[in-house]
Order: sequence, then structure tokens, then C-alpha cells
Amino acid sequence: MSSLSPVDESAEPFLSGRFAPVRDEIEVDDLVVDGTLPSDVTGAYLRNGPNPEFPPLGSYTYPIEGDGMLHGVWFERGRVRYANRFVRTNSLKAEEAAGKAIFGGLMTPAFVDQSLLGPDPDPTWPFKLDADVNIVRHAGHILAIGEGAPPYEIAADLDTLARYDFGGGLPAGITAHPKIDPSTGEMFVFRYDVSAPFLSWAVVGADGSVTRPPTAIDGVDEAYMIHDCAITARYVVIVIGPLQLDVNAMLSGGQPILWKPELGTRVALIPRDGSAVRWVHGDAFWAWHWANAFDDGDVVQLDFAWSSGPGFGFAGSHAAPITGSFARATLNPSNGTIDVHHLDQNALESPGSTTACSAATTATSPSPAAPPTRASSSASTTSCTATTPTPAPASASTATPTSASRSSSRVTALLTSSTATTWPTPATSTPTTPPSSSSTPPTSRTRRSPPSTSHVACPTASTATGSRSADRLEQSDEGGHEGPRPFEGSH
Ligand SMILES: [Fe+2]
Repeated sequence: MSSLSPVDESAEPFLSGRFAPVRDEIEVDDLVVDGTLPSDVTGAYLRNGPNPEFPPLGSYTYPIEGDGMLHGVWFERGRVRYANRFVRTNSLKAEEAAGKAIFGGLMTPAFVDQSLLGPDPDPTWPFKLDADVNIVRHAGHILAIGEGAPPYEIAADLDTLARYDFGGGLPAGITAHPKIDPSTGEMFVFRYDVSAPFLSWAVVGADGSVTRPPTAIDGVDEAYMIHDCAITARYVVIVIGPLQLDVNAMLSGGQPILWKPELGTRVALIPRDGSAVRWVHGDAFWAWHWANAFDDGDVVQLDFAWSSGPGFGFAGSHAAPITGSFARATLNPSNGTIDVHHLDQNALESPGSTTACSAATTATSPSPAAPPTRASSSASTTSCTATTPTPAPASASTATPTSASRSSSRVTALLTSSTATTWPTPATSTPTTPPSSSSTPPTSRTRRSPPSTSHVACPTASTATGSRSADRLEQSDEGGHEGPRPFEGSH
């Protein structure tokens, strides 16, 4: 058992104040509606986000740690219901059985008493990478997804069903932001790892079967954190910002996730037909999420929340005020270039990216034909500068591992065995039997007392137009504990 001490939540900005974890699970059958809710609005809004049930041990790194907390709001005939539930992974169930956290934080890996893990430990241990980032519905399955671990299937009432491996086709998991092609129903996924293959992609057909098994992306020879992807009619677009993962540093108390802007940013344009990957590269930039992508003649246009860096304390020696904008990158596979056009000066994402980018005009990064290696940054003309520097919030990532947790070869072995899983080729790709896709509101059971003042504010009928089909579920992803964010779009 770990000797790590629980994090002082009152001193951790992402565990206190408006980010304080929600530990009650409640159901409210009939929320008070302010205004008028159109009677033809029927459906559900679901969201997921990090929300540790127990005070974390050793360290807490927002937003990639913490148990998943699902929130659901159901609309039906002018009435609104709410419920929330933890994503009860096997790792969380082990902690609930122990009555406290048993896993160390990402920055403070620790031994875990195997007798506490139960008969079917999640494959990420000794880390606890829970399904806390996104919730997606595909092929009749509602999936809570984390950053690279296997998803968990969720019932329509938000109860957790079981770990989900796509009929055995994707046992190592997927990253949290797959993309569904609305015209074909296919879901495109990728996964990064700390050992080869460092980056892979795969396709899940509209029926839920794996139609393209995990396929290594050649040219990626180191581990990078990659949070989101985009698709066009021709390509899967995976942007590799220079945010490297260093497991050895993690196990020795160093900086395991480090921003290296000198490497530049590369983009893999992966033809959906499986032909050779095409690369473009340019100066370093970062984005957590992509807004849209589309083919435009021979080039690809990619719209996104541009950031000069990732925030969250990952910058290391490159720490500087983060600038942000909404941008369009023109990706030209013919000459290997990325041209970044800053379309709006408002920073959109990343803690600390409260500083607007001052460059509202086109910024280009001409570079030679791109090999699938690190980018050169010498040709960049990007000129986004901070006008009102604002330091990023403090992060728990600087917590010091204990000597017991950092020097163990066993931890190294466990990490290797848990992350170097070979993705097998699915045999018959037989989909599992999909559960009902109904968005039936939860039952009236209430695990804990709901707050007496629960209510939902609605726009007037004149501004809330349109209707939704009865079985439609909207999805959203992590965003702290501040309440629903806009519905997540699809590409
Ligand atoms: Fe995300």
C-alpha cells in the first residue's frame, strides 16, 4: 500500500472552489424551470469530467486525473430531470472497497497492494487513468472514455456496465476524442503510447465492429501526448504538438510531460483509404481540441483553438504566458507546409490562455517538404505575442514523489507491461450485442438527498427553437465542475 499522503484539496486550485469535487450522486426528477421549455425538445444532454471521489494520493494533475463524473439532463414533454453518477471503473471500485484512494498520482506513482485491486484490474495500473474525459455514443453503445485507457460502457441511466474493448478489437483502449463520420457512421480513433507503436489509428464501423485494426503510424518514434483528432472526407488528421512523455522522468521524480517547442508541430494526414501518411510541419503550436476540418482542393483546412503552449505546468523551462486565438491552419501535403491564420483574437482554451493573440493576420510557416521527423522552426513568421500576460494557475504537477514510489524497478515493469499491449487484429469483428439506445430518463431512485434549490434556467420559447429526436443523446467532455459546456460538434 502506498505511503503517500492525501493531497490537501483546500490548497489545490483544481480541487477547491468551483473546481471542488462533487461527491454526492443525486437524482432530481422534476427540476424547476425558469422560463418556458419548448415541449418538442426531447432528449438528453450528457457530460463527463474529472472528479475524484477520494482525496488523491501524492499529487493531482488536472485535467487528466480524477474519477469520471457523469452528469445527465433529460428533457421530456417540458419537464427536466437531472442525475449524476461516477464512472465506476474497476479501479474506482477497488478504492471504494478500501474506503480511500489507493493509487498514486501520475507524478507520484506508487505501489498498490494487489489484493486490493480485485479480480480484473484495469490495465493502466499502477496508474489510475479513468474514463473521465468524454462520453460518446456510437453503434448503440454509450462510452465513457479517458486518455488512452479502455472505455467503460454506460447504461442509459448513467450506471456503469463494464469495461469495453470493441468486441476484443481494441483491448488497449482509445483516446478520449474519437470522431464519427456522419455520412458513413464510422468512428475514427487513435491511441498514443509510451512505447512502440507510439501512435496508432483504427476505425470502428457503424455497426460497432472494428473495420481497421490498430495501425501504427510510421515516423513517430517518440511518445507524445495527443488529445484530439479531426477527420475530413479524405483524411484522419492527427496533430503532434511537441508535448513529449518521458516515463523515466516520471519514475524518477522528473518532469514526465514536457513541452519542447524547438521540435515544432507536425501533422499526420492519414488517408482513410490506408495509403501512405502525408506529413506537414511548422512552428510549435498547441491545441487541445479541433473545431472542424475539411478538404479544400489539395489542402486541408483545420479550424481550432490555437495556443502557444499547453498550459497545466507542462512548459518546464519554456514557461511563458500562453497566448491564444481561434485559428485556421492550412495544411498542404504537396509542399509539407502549415499556414496558420489567426481568425479571432480571443483566447479560448487552456488554463492560463487568457491572453489574446495580437496577430489577427495570416501567419505562415513555410518549410521544406516534410519528412516524418521533427519540424524545423527556422522559417516561421508567426507573431502572436502576449499583450496582458497572465500566469497559469498553479498545478499539482510539482509534487515530489516519495522515495518509495520513484525507485522501483517493479513499477517500471508494471508500467511497461500495462502500456505495451499489442493490439491484435480482430478476427471476425463480431459486434457485441448493443444495448438499448434509448435515452430513457433515470428512475426516481435517489442515492443521496438532492439539493432543494435545483433548477434549470431556460431561454424563452421564442429563442429556443428546433426539436430533437427522442433518442438523441448529446455529448460533451471534460471542463471542470462548472456546468455544461456547449454540445460537442462532430466532423
Ligand atoms: Fe478534451
